[in-house]
Amino acid sequence: MKRRIIEILRNGQSDESVTVQGWVRTKRDLKGFAFVEVNDGSSLASLQAVLKAEMPDYEATLKQINTGASVEISGVLVPSQGKGQRIELQAETVKVFGDADPETYPLQKKRHSFEFLRTIGHLRSRTNSLGAVFRVRNACATAIHQFFQERSFLWVHTPVITRNDCEGAGELFTVTSLDLKKIPQTENGKIDYSQDFFGGQAFLTVSGQLEAEVMAMAFSNVYTFGPTFRAENSNTSRHLAEFWMVEPEMAFCDLVGNMDLAEAFLKHIFKYVLETCPEDMKFFNQRIDDSVLATADNIINNQFERITYTEAIAQLEKATKTFEYPVEWGLDLQSEHERYLAEELFKKPVIVTDYPKQIKAFYMRVNDDDKTVRAMDVLAPKIGEIIGGSQREERLEVLEKRMQAQDINPDDLWWYLDLRRYGTVPHAGFGLGFERLVQFMTGMGNIRDVIPFPRAPLSAEF
Ligand code: 4AD
Ligand code: MG
Repeated sequence: MKRRIIEILRNGQSDESVTVQGWVRTKRDLKGFAFVEVNDGSSLASLQAVLKAEMPDYEATLKQINTGASVEISGVLVPSQGKGQRIELQAETVKVFGDADPETYPLQKKRHSFEFLRTIGHLRSRTNSLGAVFRVRNACATAIHQFFQERSFLWVHTPVITRNDCEGAGELFTVTSLDLKKIPQTENGKIDYSQDFFGGQAFLTVSGQLEAEVMAMAFSNVYTFGPTFRAENSNTSRHLAEFWMVEPEMAFCDLVGNMDLAEAFLKHIFKYVLETCPEDMKFFNQRIDDSVLATADNIINNQFERITYTEAIAQLEKATKTFEYPVEWGLDLQSEHERYLAEELFKKPVIVTDYPKQIKAFYMRVNDDDKTVRAMDVLAPKIGEIIGGSQREERLEVLEKRMQAQDINPDDLWWYLDLRRYGTVPHAGFGLGFERLVQFMTGMGNIRDVIPFPRAPLSAEF
C-alpha cells in the first residue's frame, strides 16, 4: 500500500508491506547491500530503505540511485538496527522514475548557505531547512483559518487589482492592460500610465482592508488572507515586494477588542504549530536559532505588554542604548526602536497604541486630543512590527477632514465614505504580515527564505 513517510515513521509496524515514493537524500553502498534514504516532503526525517544484492538488476538500479533521483520503493517494514530510527524498509522492488547526475545536481550532502539556496529556488524545497519552513508555513495558514472559523469570522476575498492606495504611502505597483509594444507616449516622450487599466488607473493592492471594511459592514466579523504588494525598494531581511497578509475586520469593536483578538490570535497560531510540527520546531531550535522554542513559550504564556506611543517614546529617551535614528515625539518608530522595546526592555511582544496622526493612515480614528489616532502595532522580539492595525474612523465629517488633510480625493473613495453615511458603526481590524509571522516562528534570518518564491528587489530568479 502506498504510504506517506511521516505516517510510516509514526505508525508503521514490522512485517507490513508498504510502497513509498520520494526523492533520494543519500545512498551508502556497502558491497552486497546499500542504504538509501528517501524523503517525500512529509517530514524532516527520511525513511531508510535497505537494498540487497539479491534484488533483480541490483547493480544497474544502484547506479541510478543518486542524491536527487526520484524513486518508488516497495517492500516490508522491519525493526531498524540503526540509531535514531525505529523502523526501516526492506526493499523488494525499486523503480527509478528519474535519475539525477551527481556531477551536476546542485544539492550536495553538505550544508549550503541560504544565499546559495536562493539561486536554486526550484530545488531548495528539497532541503531540510526549507522543507521545515514550508511545512510550518502551511501549519500557520491552517491555524489562521481555524482560529477565525471557530469564531464565526467570514473569510472574504478582496481584489488584487484595485484603484485605491489604502495606506497612502505611494508604494503602488501600476497594473497595465496595454500592449507593451503600443504604450501611448505623451508629447515629451514619457509613457502615459494614467490610462493604463482599460482607460483608467489601477494598481496591485497594498492591503485588502478597505474592501474588508465593506464586508464587515454586512457580516460583522470578516478576515482576508491573500497576497499584497508594496513597491518599496527596501533591500532588508524583513521586506518583500509581494507578501501575504491576514486582515480581520470587526464591526462593533474598539481598539481594546482589537488588541485582545490580536493577542489571542498569535497565541493560537504558536500553540497549533507546536502541536502539529514538533519535529520541525525542534529542528529550528537546534539549527537556526536556539531561542525559537523559548520564544514560542513566551508568546503562549505571557500577557503582551500594552503601552501608548507617548510612553514608548519616553522609554526610548530613557534608554542608555544609542540608536542610529532619532527618537522624538512625532517621528515614526524605526525597526531598531521596535526591537529595543520588545527584545530588550519588555522581553516579550509589545502592543504600542495611539500614534501621532501625522504618521498614520487616513482611516484611523482620531482621539479626543486631536493629536493621536487609535492605532496599534504589535512588536515582536527580533522582528519588530509584525501586526499593524487600528480602530477605524466611523464619523463621516472627521473622516472627510482627515482625507482633505492628506490630499485624498473623496471622489476616489465615495463608496468608503458611503459606509459612514449608511449604518456606520465603531469598527476595528489589523493586518498580520504572514511572512513576518513565519520568520518569527522559525527564527529564519531572511524573509526571502520563508516564502517559496520571494519577490524582492534583485530577486526574481524565476
Ligand atoms: O502596517 P501595515 O502597512 O498595515 C496595513 O496594511 C493595514 N491596512 C492593516 C489593517 O489594519 N488591516 O501592514 C501590516 C503588516 C505589517 O505589520 C507587517 O507585518 C506586514 O504587514 N508588512 C510587510 N511584510 C513583508 N514585506 C513588506 N514589505 C511588508 N509591509 C508590511
Ligand atoms: Mg505598519
